[in-house]
Amino acid sequence: MNMKVKIIGAGSIGNHLAQASRRMGWEVSVVDADPKALERMKNDIYPKRYGAWDDSIKLFTPDKEPKGGFDIIMLGTPPDVRMKLALEALKENPKLLHLEKPLCAPDLKGVDEFRAELRKHPETIVVVGYDNAVGQALEEFAKMLRDKVVGNILTLDVEFREHWRGIFGAHPWLAGPWETYLGYWKRGGGAGGEHSHALHLWRHLAEAAGWDKISDVKSSLAFKKEREAEYDYLTTFLLKTESGKVGRVVQDVITFPVKKWARAQGEKGFIEWVGNASPEGDLLRYQVEGGELIEKIVSKKRPDDFYCETLHYQKLLSGEIKLKDSPLSFERGLEIMKILNKAYGF
Ligand SMILES: NC(=O)c1ccc[n+]([C@@H]2O[C@H](COP(=O)([O-])OP(=O)(O)OC[C@H]3O[C@@H](n4cnc5c(N)ncnc54)[C@H](O)[C@@H]3O)[C@@H](O)[C@H]2O)c1
Repeated sequence: MNMKVKIIGAGSIGNHLAQASRRMGWEVSVVDADPKALERMKNDIYPKRYGAWDDSIKLFTPDKEPKGGFDIIMLGTPPDVRMKLALEALKENPKLLHLEKPLCAPDLKGVDEFRAELRKHPETIVVVGYDNAVGQALEEFAKMLRDKVVGNILTLDVEFREHWRGIFGAHPWLAGPWETYLGYWKRGGGAGGEHSHALHLWRHLAEAAGWDKISDVKSSLAFKKEREAEYDYLTTFLLKTESGKVGRVVQDVITFPVKKWARAQGEKGFIEWVGNASPEGDLLRYQVEGGELIEKIVSKKRPDDFYCETLHYQKLLSGEIKLKDSPLSFERGLEIMKILNKAYGF
């Protein structure tokens, strides 16, 4: 299936999405408002990460941006400009529109307008880039929950705790959080927005375990000011479903070494995931009571995270997976944003 892809944003995620799309054999065009970002993509980020620049990738500044005729449009910009660009992208009628996570800034500005436009484009598949949920190890985890391998699930915990020196390592041109949306919770940065993978993953695993809807969220956030920046460095959630099931999410930008972890305690055993547990990949460990402890590494490298995502998109486009069943659906991404909206006190 040849696909024409347009990616807006030539930053860290724009490079990942471009490389994953090329790995699918798709045609890629990239647009960025900053000519320096396009240069950096071609001469620095892409060749350093993936070995060599790919000459088939076309680069554009917005004045020369090609419009129309794209099967897939991906928005890899900071969260606070996402909804405005999403509205414009939707009008181009792509088959699939990928919006990076978190969906938008926590004030949810632009969401209603986008949803109104979306009703006029019922054919467009809209997804939010919570790639972890479609990674191999977590797909296996979710399947085990669906199959009730450890019985009914009693509690769920997810943590994404990562000092953002890792993120700044991928953005060496930035001096610190104050130079990017990351340092501003109001723009969708901070631990809440940046590590909302955890909240999304909790929701996804709860759904796989057959839990009902989240009906109550208690949150506690700790904030820090750094120059003109202000962000939550630690964000915690206690979540409860309609029938009274309870679990917990922790997100922070201070833990080092990184801890990306999920655990489901069932009636007759547990399942645990440790993201990037070794240089080879993720760790999946589980034990059914009375049985042996199983520990296995599900091998992956960083580019595979986004390749899994593009493979998922191919299945959505071919109809093999329905959007209503996809963990990446717009509605699920919006639900996460609404939890963040309340946590920040809107
Ligand atoms: N799924 C993941 O694992 C993952 C990984 C990295 C980043 N992200 C997400 O991707 C988003 C971007 O992060 P990043 O690290 O790539 O940021 P970045 O700063 O490296 O890149 C963003 C790019 O968008 C460009 N841009 C901003 N406004 C624009 C506009 N109006 N039109 C065109 N280009 C514009 C900027 O010039 C910049 O080059 C964030 O929401 C982040 O959370 C997700």
